[in-house]
Amino acid sequence: MRFFWTAAAALFAHCSLVGASTAKRSYDTRDYYVVEHSPLVNAGAPLDDVATALGLKLEGKVGELDNHYLLSAPKSVHGLHSRSEHSDRVLEAFESLKARASSRLVSRSEGALHARSIVSSRAPPPIRRPLSSESSRAISERLGIQDPMFSKQWHLVNDDYPEHMMNVAPVWDMGYTGKGVITSFLDDGLDYTSEDLADNFDAANSYDFNDHVPLPMPKKATDHHGTRCAGQVAAGKNAACGIGIAYNSKVAGVRILSGKLTDADETAALNYGYQNVSIYSCSWGPRDNGKTMEGPNYLIKKGLVNGINKGRGGKGSIFVFASGNGGGHGDQCNFDGYTNSIYSVTVSSLDYKGRHPYYSEACAANMVVAYSSGAGRHIVTTDIGKNQCATNHGGTSAAAPNVAGVFALALEARPDLTWRDIQYLSIETARMVNPDDPDWERIANNRLYSYKYGFGAIDAEKYVTAAKEWKLVKPQAWIESKTIQLNNGTYKDKTYSGGEYIGPKGVQSKMMITKEMLAENNFATLEHINVKVWIDHSRRGDVEVEIISPTGIRSVLAGKREKDEAETGFPGWKFMSVKHWGDSPVGEWTIRVYDQGEPAEEGYFLGWNMILWGTTIDSSKAKQYEVPLIEDVLPPMEAPSSLVVPAPTVTKEHGKPTDHLPSDHGTAEGENTKPAFSSRPTSPLPGQTWPAFTSDGFFNLKLLSFAIAAAVLSGVVAGVYFWRRQRRLASYTSLSAVEDVSMGSVAHGGMVSRAPGADEGRVSPPGRSTMGLGFHSGFLDDDEPSTAGSDRTPTYRDIPV
Ligand SMILES: *[C@@H]1O[C@H](CO)[C@@H](O)[C@H](O)[C@H]1NC(C)=O
Ligand SMILES: *[C@@H]1O[C@H](CO)[C@@H](O)[C@H](O)[C@H]1NC(C)=O
Repeated sequence: MRFFWTAAAALFAHCSLVGASTAKRSYDTRDYYVVEHSPLVNAGAPLDDVATALGLKLEGKVGELDNHYLLSAPKSVHGLHSRSEHSDRVLEAFESLKARASSRLVSRSEGALHARSIVSSRAPPPIRRPLSSESSRAISERLGIQDPMFSKQWHLVNDDYPEHMMNVAPVWDMGYTGKGVITSFLDDGLDYTSEDLADNFDAANSYDFNDHVPLPMPKKATDHHGTRCAGQVAAGKNAACGIGIAYNSKVAGVRILSGKLTDADETAALNYGYQNVSIYSCSWGPRDNGKTMEGPNYLIKKGLVNGINKGRGGKGSIFVFASGNGGGHGDQCNFDGYTNSIYSVTVSSLDYKGRHPYYSEACAANMVVAYSSGAGRHIVTTDIGKNQCATNHGGTSAAAPNVAGVFALALEARPDLTWRDIQYLSIETARMVNPDDPDWERIANNRLYSYKYGFGAIDAEKYVTAAKEWKLVKPQAWIESKTIQLNNGTYKDKTYSGGEYIGPKGVQSKMMITKEMLAENNFATLEHINVKVWIDHSRRGDVEVEIISPTGIRSVLAGKREKDEAETGFPGWKFMSVKHWGDSPVGEWTIRVYDQGEPAEEGYFLGWNMILWGTTIDSSKAKQYEVPLIEDVLPPMEAPSSLVVPAPTVTKEHGKPTDHLPSDHGTAEGENTKPAFSSRPTSPLPGQTWPAFTSDGFFNLKLLSFAIAAAVLSGVVAGVYFWRRQRRLASYTSLSAVEDVSMGSVAHGGMVSRAPGADEGRVSPPGRSTMGLGFHSGFLDDDEPSTAGSDRTPTYRDIPV
């Protein structure tokens, strides 16, 4: 290929001279692109030559991502709105170069892996200690806490319901206060002039990606969220307001929620200072309105995986994500690609009385709960200003930092914990709440799991005590299953065809996982599972999806969503479940897809596959996962010879979970008597038979071999990833430059949704097709119908009333 002639060594030398680009952009006069330019290619042209050939100027690196560069060109003369799919001259230049290039496939031999017996999942020693029942007054006297609001910080010491609190005082007694640990708040700023935060503020690892200035000072009237979250972790032990869980730890502020943000900057933010920062506390995500299905796109996913593979010297960045506040809208955290990422610790809320607040989202990706607003109480924490206190903080936004604070305490005790040790400890030490809640189910290894509570409430004392003795887990392994197509189901060019009619009885399909597959993939014990589905439906919210493991443990992946009227289905949407942690993966897995809605709305189940994640058998043969470039096409795409993928972008604005946090989040009573999802039959009803996709025959779904998708995509090493930002909010242009790859589908992992007003510049194919993206299409411009009721305003007012 023409671009890749020169020796790789030259490229390395060049790259080392290029610094990260955080300079302010000139969006009015220039177009920006991201080029992925890998020195791993056998022989490659220097980046400068690539830039010259395409008429681009090099701006710098994209955050901490290796081999990704931001380049720019003077804005093309075409008007933004008239720009059609192929009118971008930079992409056209690349296309013509590509057309001249020869195909170059890199084969990756997987080498035979030794079979080993399967090690059973281990359980840590049980920790049974009663919660401290010492009063807040006694604790403040004993520990010399002067903070005037400490007694109001019930999440630290709950005088009324002592069984419901983060239980941190015993950890302070052990001598852990978070020293040496840095938590970064990706949020709307951090008021480092606050007396409560000034001493613990880490300026070196802070940045403002909205205004492109070094310090994350809150500037807008609504910019108080990040400061409040940071106060929960690191408010000082002093005379101001209250105290943080890890009050001697440091906090950095990375401002991303207060204005426009490009994918390149979001990616950089997720890795900002990632050798010194341990924890990224993220209380934001796609809109929690019960009808959005979105997640990180290709570039941002690479940032997450980069943090996991390389952050903290390879131990992995710890991403803590709030599950979302859309519970009242029927939203579920498995429709959010950040909270259903295996790389996030997903945190939902518990209220003052230990019940489930209705705003808190349930899903099979929920890992734990922590205390936040509800039942008449809010979270009391630092506010913006010199010496200010917020008394109305809440939502899952406030639950996540409580968990981040506990992790900071644990990392002081055990800085060697990897990102997966942090997850194991969360699961193993979570405290059961509301034992009579019907949402609890017994799962593998005798654990209990709930979609509402995950594995239970994070308890600082239990967590840190267990962390001190914890034996590190082996590296991660995974098995990527073959993809099953039902009735020749395909999804290509954003168009569905084939598939099995779902109908009132539902459709099921089975997949076999064998011991040999485990051995071949160096796979010992199961942790997370991903289930990717292609489902075409005229009303997405009617579709329910569940997966049943060989041992009979069932995960509801998608429950009915009343408000989700999208006609775009699930084009390779990836669900996640932690409910099979420790489950036996060997045997037949069953997926069932139901259609619960109007007979007039109907759909087809086209295909699915799984990734099983777990521990290695042999650590020395561990590999690092790479994000595949093309994830949503059914059947999966053959390796492209060379790849230019223009990703949309997007000056988006991320919503805060407070966008959909109801105004009564602090006052409404919680519940502990309702399952998160209504139960479905786990076997055919009398007189009902499942469609015959279960045995040998034409639809032979017993898999005899596994394809490793990463190998299929190894040609991507030579890929050049283009990204072009576009100026209008929620306005995207499809730049389909690879034959079968739609930009939107690549960039957003298959998410498509129709956003009103987001259709400009896109070509929508006829037939059963999906359209482009509406990603983070607004900020506080809530589009909820007013049916939410007068007592629940759809936008959260964070101002005391
Ligand atoms: C990160 O930590 C290293 C080692 O302690 C130190 O030399 C470096 O200055 C730190 N960088 C930042 C940005 O804090
Ligand atoms: C699926 O496609 C193959 C090859 O195109 C064809 O032979 C077969 O009849 C199709 N099966 C169904 C059920 O449509």
